[in-house]
Amino acid sequence: MHSFGFRANAIVTFALTILAVICAMTSLSDNLNVPSPTADIKVLNINWFQKQPNGNEEVSLTLNISVDLQSMFTWNTKQVFVFVAAEYETPQNALNQVSLWDGIIPSKEDARFWIHTTNKYRFIDQGSNLRSKDFNLTLHWHVMPKTGKMSADKIVMTGYRLPDEYR
Ligand SMILES: *[C@@H]1O[C@H](CO)[C@@H](O)[C@H](O)[C@H]1NC(C)=O
Ligand SMILES: *[C@@H]1O[C@H](CO)[C@@H](O)[C@H](O)[C@H]1NC(C)=O
Repeated sequence: MHSFGFRANAIVTFALTILAVICAMTSLSDNLNVPSPTADIKVLNINWFQKQPNGNEEVSLTLNISVDLQSMFTWNTKQVFVFVAAEYETPQNALNQVSLWDGIIPSKEDARFWIHTTNKYRFIDQGSNLRSKDFNLTLHWHVMPKTGKMSADKIVMTGYRLPDEYR
C-alpha cells in the first residue's frame, strides 16, 4: 500500500535519476566532440613605443584578430570566453603574459569573426625588456558548458618582434 507522498517521491527520484543520466551523457558526448579551432593574428601597426618617466616601457599595437571557434560550440556550450595575450621571456621571468584583448562569444553564429582593433588593455613591461623582443601572441579560451566541467585551451602564434627603437 503506497501513500500518495511515497509515489510522488518515487516520481521525483526517477526524474532526478533521468536528469543525472542526461547530464552525464551530455558531458560525455561533449568530450567526444573534437574541435578544430583556428586563429590568425596580424600586427598591422606599432602605433607608438615609449619609455615612461617611471622606467616602464609601453607599446600600442593595432591588431587584426581573426578567429573561428565555431567547432567549440555544441548544444552543451553556454558561452566561450576568449583573450589574446602577448607572451615573452625576460631575464627575470620565463613567462611574461600581458592580456591585450578579450571577449565573450555567446553563440556559434558569433564564433567566427575578425576584429581590427588597438590593444584594449595596456601592453606595459616593468623594465626595459621590449626593444627587439621576440614574442608570441596566444589566443586563450575558456568554454563554459551548460553542464559539466569548464575547459580551456589555447593557440600559440609565434614569430612576432617589437622594434629596435622607441617611436
Ligand atoms: C583581417 O583579417 C581578415 C581575415 O584574414 C581579412 O578578411 C580582413 O580583411 C583583415 N582586415 C584588415 C583590416 O586587415
Ligand atoms: C613561443 O611559442 C613557442 C612555440 O610554442 C615556444 O617554444 C616558446 O617558448 C614561446 N615563447 C614564450 C615566451 O612563451
